[in-house]
Amino acid sequence: MKNRPSGFGIEQLPRLVRGAGSCLFDAEGKRYLDGSGGPAVFCLGHAHPEVNAALARQFAEIAYAYRYLFTSAALENLTATILEACGGGFKDIVYSGSGSEAVEGALKIALQCFAARGQMQKRRFIARRRSWHGNTLGALSISDFAQRRRAFEGSLLDVTFVSAANAYRRPDGVSGENLAAALAGELEQAIVNLGPPNVAAFIFEPIVGAAGGVVPAPAGYAQAIQGVCRKYDVLLIADEVMCGSGRSGTWRALEHDGIVPDIMCIAKGLAGGYIPLGATLVTPQVAAPILSEHGSYMTGHTFTGHTAACAAGLAVQHIVRRDRLLERVRSVGAPFQEAIRQALSKYDEVGDVRGRGFFIGIELVRDRRTRLPFPAERALSFDIGSRAFADGLICYPCSGNVDGAAGDTVIIAPPYNASDSELEEIVTKLARAIGTALSSAREPV
Ligand SMILES: Cc1ncc(COP(=O)(O)O)c(C=O)c1O
Repeated sequence: MKNRPSGFGIEQLPRLVRGAGSCLFDAEGKRYLDGSGGPAVFCLGHAHPEVNAALARQFAEIAYAYRYLFTSAALENLTATILEACGGGFKDIVYSGSGSEAVEGALKIALQCFAARGQMQKRRFIARRRSWHGNTLGALSISDFAQRRRAFEGSLLDVTFVSAANAYRRPDGVSGENLAAALAGELEQAIVNLGPPNVAAFIFEPIVGAAGGVVPAPAGYAQAIQGVCRKYDVLLIADEVMCGSGRSGTWRALEHDGIVPDIMCIAKGLAGGYIPLGATLVTPQVAAPILSEHGSYMTGHTFTGHTAACAAGLAVQHIVRRDRLLERVRSVGAPFQEAIRQALSKYDEVGDVRGRGFFIGIELVRDRRTRLPFPAERALSFDIGSRAFADGLICYPCSGNVDGAAGDTVIIAPPYNASDSELEEIVTKLARAIGTALSSAREPV
């Protein structure tokens, strides 16, 4: 788990020996139910026999057909599958090995698009507070995650940040009804302040993951910011690394909002963790100047479009579609979220339960009325995560969502094919971990 406060060296971690469906087993025989897909990765659970068989077939044929000399059926079929799942709005896909690289690729493609259009001054990025886009220098520069940035400050890109789109933690003086319009106005002002000819792109997570604890944007927000970006010829980049690939119940998270961004990043659920795989998708409007002026996207890596990774992605996506798992995520997601809300309703410190599909966040507060967080030193979310882990449940504790240090959230993001009884077990164990951690957090320091 990322960002544990201290002392989680490898020698302290259980040795994992086996996975089966939604469960993992360590060398001592202890079973863990995967309630968060690690950090929202394992959309099909573990050791799926059909994915493993597809990988065995691919490895028997060829592990990797170097992308710049050859194509392969896995690459071509995965590309066709993703473009179709996205509803036809994108033209090209640049593959990579992680979410950070997918984001890095998106930033570079935005810059390259303007370079190809002869607008070399469009170099600046705008991002949002309380967001996470990855750990490479570019992706980290556009991320507002204090703990993860601190050691690298001074070498990061100069990025402008606007407010998070968080209905539970609105900017001062902004009502719920005005939130989307106020945030769009703030973005417009930021573009005007920087000078529109200088701004390349605005990047955002349609549903914030680790930095916010699952925060869907308010209704109307996505359309409003797209309108602002179009007005000033600023590209809109959606980071769907965590919330996309079906996690929120639609293949693209922004399908829910009815918009297609200019560039989109996906990773985690794309190949479900079977082999690392990320991808950056571009619309025809972004692709056209790049392809006509430069001939190709200048953001490739040695392992771009790795054949076995594409075969993993293809097998995962085939099963998700054949088994109608997005329908399951959509229909079961709301009652599952409601079951979590009910199970936690007896705890005054549960401030908010939110999310969409199988992407659910729980925010803990010291005082429900003021929404003040517990002090960061309490490390409440990590205490919850540790208690759940000891009890055989994996959830994803995150901290710092309020001011970069304080703020406690827990993410629940099970495999799309988790059974009803597994979902019930998640609810029971999560409530138990939160209950015991809160009892201890209420005690004086
Ligand atoms: C929204 C988002 N973008 C980008 C990343 C970076 O992905 P990776 O850790 O695979 O590099 C993450 C990872 O948590 C993420 O949640």
